[in-house]
Amino acid sequence: MSPSAAKAKLSHAPMILVVDDLEVNRKIRCAVLKNAGYRIQEARDGAEALQVAAKSLPDLVLSDILMPVMDGFELCRAWKSDARLQSVPFVFYSATYTEPKDQEFALRLGADAFLRKGADNGEFLTEIARLLDAPTHHPDSEVRDEGVFYREHSERVVRKLEDKLSELERANKDIRDREEQLQAAKRQLEQRVAERTAELVATNKELESFAYTVSHDLRAPLRLINALSHDMLESFDEKTQPQLAENAASIQRAASRMNRLIDELLQLSRVTRRVLKRERIDLSRMAHEVVEELLLSTPKRKVKVDIEEGLTTIADKELLHIVLSNLFDNALKYTRLEPHARITLRQRNEHGQTVFTLSDNGVGFDQRDSNKLFKPFQRLHPQEQFDGAGIGLATVARIIHRHGGGVWAEGEAGKGSTFLFSIPEA
Ligand SMILES: Nc1ncnc2c1ncn2[C@@H]1O[C@H](COP(=O)(O)OP(=O)(O)OP(=O)(O)O)[C@@H](O)[C@H]1O
Ligand SMILES: [Mg+2]
Repeated sequence: MSPSAAKAKLSHAPMILVVDDLEVNRKIRCAVLKNAGYRIQEARDGAEALQVAAKSLPDLVLSDILMPVMDGFELCRAWKSDARLQSVPFVFYSATYTEPKDQEFALRLGADAFLRKGADNGEFLTEIARLLDAPTHHPDSEVRDEGVFYREHSERVVRKLEDKLSELERANKDIRDREEQLQAAKRQLEQRVAERTAELVATNKELESFAYTVSHDLRAPLRLINALSHDMLESFDEKTQPQLAENAASIQRAASRMNRLIDELLQLSRVTRRVLKRERIDLSRMAHEVVEELLLSTPKRKVKVDIEEGLTTIADKELLHIVLSNLFDNALKYTRLEPHARITLRQRNEHGQTVFTLSDNGVGFDQRDSNKLFKPFQRLHPQEQFDGAGIGLATVARIIHRHGGGVWAEGEAGKGSTFLFSIPEA
């Protein structure tokens, strides 16, 4: 703190009138000055400053230039022509009027100093303290003649407005240039997205028909393998030729697994081609039917299945049946080792949207792998432990996406899983 600022903290601190139309500028200035120990008065323009000064005379006035109603130049002129005020130091404080001519005009009006905004606070305070200790004492305005004042004043203001205008024009042009660049980039991006989409659609179609043909073509040789291995199994004697009989049985198991794979692949490609027939579906009822069908093949399993009643959605019936079959099939499969298996279908509301949740307390999975689940042939558990082709959830995802919905999974290894899906009704 400067010595005179420290002095200012004593009993009779000098009073400074801060004039600025922008509240934020005023507050910052006031804070700096208050901190240095001065007392403060505030005004939003020249006219208000004169009113404040008429009530209580400040020891110094610090004024901005560009202000509505009465600007700094006009205030200075009025200040210096008022006998009561003219000995009070008048300091301009401006960021906009920075040309030498502005400064010169200000000093000729009788201002004691012209400080630039943005200068260091230390220098600013030293200058204020200096002016308070030893005012320059300009007795009166040199620009006495009203005509001269208004000519020079309007020159300064017009000049400033011209500067501001060209500044605005530059900024405007800048914005227009950037907008054009943005538009060009957007057009380019749209073009690239369109090209990539067309490429992807073509590749997808090719892949679909490839999968379809291959699956179909594989059926015939597979039937032959199946039939021959069946014959072999019949003709080998399990007692005398145990190895051959076992080999034939293995061939049969492999063939039937391959048959299932083909079925699922065909189903996956059918799902994409089918035209959707949307209708209101009683999801709870469909879920009960699906579970009953699935449990027919494992009548001995003890599972507690809890399905919330009254669930409905709008979807393609056949495809939704495939979704539920796959999800319940998984839930039953992956709770196989759990003595008290429990499967629950519920509905909840998330951000105004209905989300169906299918939870089980089976083997679960590592949440970090959740993004793999819905890709074809991705399996998280070994084939020896849980049989499967790895197509079920890919089919589920494809169906839900075709309905414009979403599907995701939450799980923890050893603690069960929850599969969630939502289908927009609109
Ligand atoms: N309820 C579940 N609990 C734990 N893991 C699951 C569950 N459902 C699916 N998974 C994991 O996700 C993988 C992919 O499931 P998906 O249904 O696609 O294939 P799959 O069940 O192995 O074979 P399939 O094609 O015969 O259904 C599974 O192999 C399994 O690792
Ligand atoms: Mg499955």
